Amino acid sequence: MIILILGSGGREHALSWKISKSSLCNKIYIAPGNGGTDKIGTNIDIDINNFHEVKSFILDKKIDLVIVGPEDPLVNGIVDFINNDKDLNEIKIFGPSKKGAQLEGSKNFSKDFMFRNNIPCGASKTFSQETFDNGVDFIKSLSAPYVLKADGLAAGKGVLIIDNKDEAIKELHSMLIDKKFGDASKNVLIEEFLDGIELSVFVITDGKNYVMLPEAKDYKRIGEKDSGPNTGGMGAISPVSFANETFLKKVEEKIIKKTIEGIQADEIEYKGFLFIGLMNVRGEPYVIEYNVRMGDPETQVVIPRIENDLLEVIIKCIDGELNKIKIKSLNKFVSTVILASNGYPNSYKKGDKINNLEEIDESIIFHAGTKNNKGNIESNGGRVLAATGFGGTIEDALSKSYTIANNISWKNKYFRRDIGKDLI
Ligand code: AMP
Ligand code: GLY
Repeated sequence: MIILILGSGGREHALSWKISKSSLCNKIYIAPGNGGTDKIGTNIDIDINNFHEVKSFILDKKIDLVIVGPEDPLVNGIVDFINNDKDLNEIKIFGPSKKGAQLEGSKNFSKDFMFRNNIPCGASKTFSQETFDNGVDFIKSLSAPYVLKADGLAAGKGVLIIDNKDEAIKELHSMLIDKKFGDASKNVLIEEFLDGIELSVFVITDGKNYVMLPEAKDYKRIGEKDSGPNTGGMGAISPVSFANETFLKKVEEKIIKKTIEGIQADEIEYKGFLFIGLMNVRGEPYVIEYNVRMGDPETQVVIPRIENDLLEVIIKCIDGELNKIKIKSLNKFVSTVILASNGYPNSYKKGDKINNLEEIDESIIFHAGTKNNKGNIESNGGRVLAATGFGGTIEDALSKSYTIANNISWKNKYFRRDIGKDLI
């Protein structure tokens, strides 16, 4: 098969790395890709949100299957576009429909979905510019901390957790009235604060059947001991000790099964990854959010733990035959440590030459914000590389991640030194 993978992050490098191992895979294109994906396949500089451009490329290169990495093209409806275009009848695409992508694209939609389907989640109310005063009254009726969420996609910055009541009211004003996040904060959810430990759970579903993938823990804040602003994620570990069989059974019964039933009841076309961000509150799982894609950097630990041929799983999913698949997980710990550009998640410098990109035993270096400039790998983003290590224990896996993280060098390298410490 000839495969097109959309996206440019560490997630897409990990996906293309895994897909390239399948005997069913003849060639991979990655759009736009990065300095790592171009060693696996061919990077191609097209705008993945310009569906006509994507269509021309599919026809030109005789693509058989499109795998969508990030959320934007899904929320913009790329799956409906391809499935409804008569020239693209034969093309398979892996990802949810536009309606399904609303589970991530609108927090209001997804909250409503959870309430309707009795899926455990924090209580919340949604406010608009017109109901700003009611929002203020609602904040006044709650106790700290206050959780404010922009309804739409805000590049991972749309969730604010605030300790002070007056500041929360000020932020609500800046989101609703001053449109801090543009249209994404036309509606704002004010949500109950869930006090617990977070877990990322991944599922592949064809809308009827599902398989669970290995779970992971992500480290969201830029600073050690979970300090400073939120990022896309600074490291990840899989498996996660507190996600034992009892807890995962609860997740399956109370969340995954009900989510799939809800997808069916709403007649949502959904063939793709589903990522459930949840909070373990005293042993009970609560959904924080749905994402309609894999997580980044979770993919860099979850995908290496899947022993199946991922391409076969994806094809069976698109053909509605996921019931024939059983996921086999590698019985090892896998860790990843993100190497970022100094300054991220705020402003940072690009274009530094990166040295010593050598893997050691039981390790993989996944690229994210890198580019190949005439044979030199240069930094080209906030999160630059993910140093993935394997081991019989978490310590063992982490020692490989950190050996690589220390070896690699460029002028503005930054990484957290405490990834996974809380799980040891
Ligand atoms: P999200 O963009 O929805 O993933 O939210 C970003 C982060 O905010 C999550 O990963 C959590 O750490 C935190 N968060 C979101 N909602 C809540 C909540 N209701 N209670 C506590 N923390 C939350
Ligand atoms: N690492 C969290 C996410 O991908 O949304």
